[in-house]
Amino acid sequence: MAARVQFASGEYVPLEMHKVRVVQKLNLLPVEERLKAVEGAGYNTFLLQNRDVFLDMLTDSGTNAMSDQQIASMMVADDAYAGSASYARLYEAIVEIFGTEYFLPAHQGRAAEHIISQVFIPRSGVVPMNFHFTTTKAHIELAGGQIAELFTDEALKIKSDFPFKGNLDIAKLKALIAKVGKQNVPYVRMEAGTNLIGGQPFSIANMRDVRKVCDDHGLLIVLDVSLIAENVYFIKTREEEFKDADVKTIIRAMCDLADIIYFSARKVCCARGGGIATRSKELYLKMRDLVPLFEGFLTYGGMSVREIEAMAVGLRETLDMDMISQSPQFIKYLVDQLDAGGVPVVTPAGGLGCHLDAMGFLPHVPQLQYPAGALGTALFIISGIRGMERGTISMDRDADGNDVPSEVELLRLAMPRRVFTLSQVKYVEDRVKWLYANRELVGGLEFYDEPKVLRFFVGRLRPTGDWPQKLIAKFRQDFPNGV
Ligand code: F0G
Repeated sequence: MAARVQFASGEYVPLEMHKVRVVQKLNLLPVEERLKAVEGAGYNTFLLQNRDVFLDMLTDSGTNAMSDQQIASMMVADDAYAGSASYARLYEAIVEIFGTEYFLPAHQGRAAEHIISQVFIPRSGVVPMNFHFTTTKAHIELAGGQIAELFTDEALKIKSDFPFKGNLDIAKLKALIAKVGKQNVPYVRMEAGTNLIGGQPFSIANMRDVRKVCDDHGLLIVLDVSLIAENVYFIKTREEEFKDADVKTIIRAMCDLADIIYFSARKVCCARGGGIATRSKELYLKMRDLVPLFEGFLTYGGMSVREIEAMAVGLRETLDMDMISQSPQFIKYLVDQLDAGGVPVVTPAGGLGCHLDAMGFLPHVPQLQYPAGALGTALFIISGIRGMERGTISMDRDADGNDVPSEVELLRLAMPRRVFTLSQVKYVEDRVKWLYANRELVGGLEFYDEPKVLRFFVGRLRPTGDWPQKLIAKFRQDFPNGV
């Protein structure tokens, strides 16, 4: 693992183990124009046009830089409705890396969640998990089930040095099964690199314990491996037993403990697609017929063959420690700099992005005025950096129409793999620190157009008062000639 070097000054700096061979021009609009852009987007960073964004840290989904080998593989894609050679190459990569004989392609991660939920949730039941992801929860509820998040006490602490905040609490799992009855637990879900609490990993020791409880009760484990590469990186660097193990061994150790594995290739493969893998023919056959119905034939599953080729190569590249170290090390650099500057940020650094704690950042903004959403729009206005709200806006209302305050209010600054340079990361650090110094100028948001399901995607909001104008006035005072 070479992507972190000591400079002569003694400072440790992440070092890119790749070179840039294709570039995309970026725009850095003047602050006044960014305000107009965010107004047009209903103060929702999902609705911004990418041409108005300088650094797009909304997500790492489908936005990772592809390798030369991935692009090259797309040129030999085999266009066939059925029996494509591209699919055969992807299948081989799946078997080699996950050790699963059966595979079902799906056009992205949530399509896999749709199929799994429809097949295994019989209109009711509780799915225990280390933490939910938005689309996972929506699909489980659509199928008539509920989720139960059984995270440990460390998971939601903003400042922590606990290495495995993504662990599932075993005592809570046993208690839940005793309470609802194992017949009402369709499966237990583990999410590698737990997205919504900051890309935090679980340990293999924890997953072994989950397996033991599931075996005792005859329950299935469904493992979401969308962020497995980063979880592996943390197991290798934090779990003593695996410090000398290679990436493949660690991936296999995780996958061997699960019955069904699914993923978003938009993350783990640096391509665009998804799929479901299992060692069990019986489980495979239960799910198989839904693929042609919802996705496409069994050898393309709604994906382009070019993306299927890129997925196969991208999956193999996750075995390269240089490749999978890059993003966690850049994230750690940013988190450590912000933490040292007193900015409230989730620690230890996770594997998806840098997560700002909006309640600590903007304690004067009430939670039902959406501090994480407000922080996201304020940061965009003063910097052109686009993050993603992961707080109460990302929770839909309850059956009575009440807001459901999220346990944490985070602004996620995702670090797509191999995309940003260190000077761009330093720009993020600088502008976040400036905003923190001027945080009292930031106010809240309120909805004026609010969809019922997954409202964070297309809902529109407005500021509570004229705080954006005041923020710009201060920015202009501090940076008279800057953008
Ligand atoms: N599971 C996890 C852990 C995810 O992070 C995502 C997507 C999905 C499932 C759904 O996959 O987008 O391919 O349908 N996460 C994206 C994000 C959307 O921005 O974090 P998908």
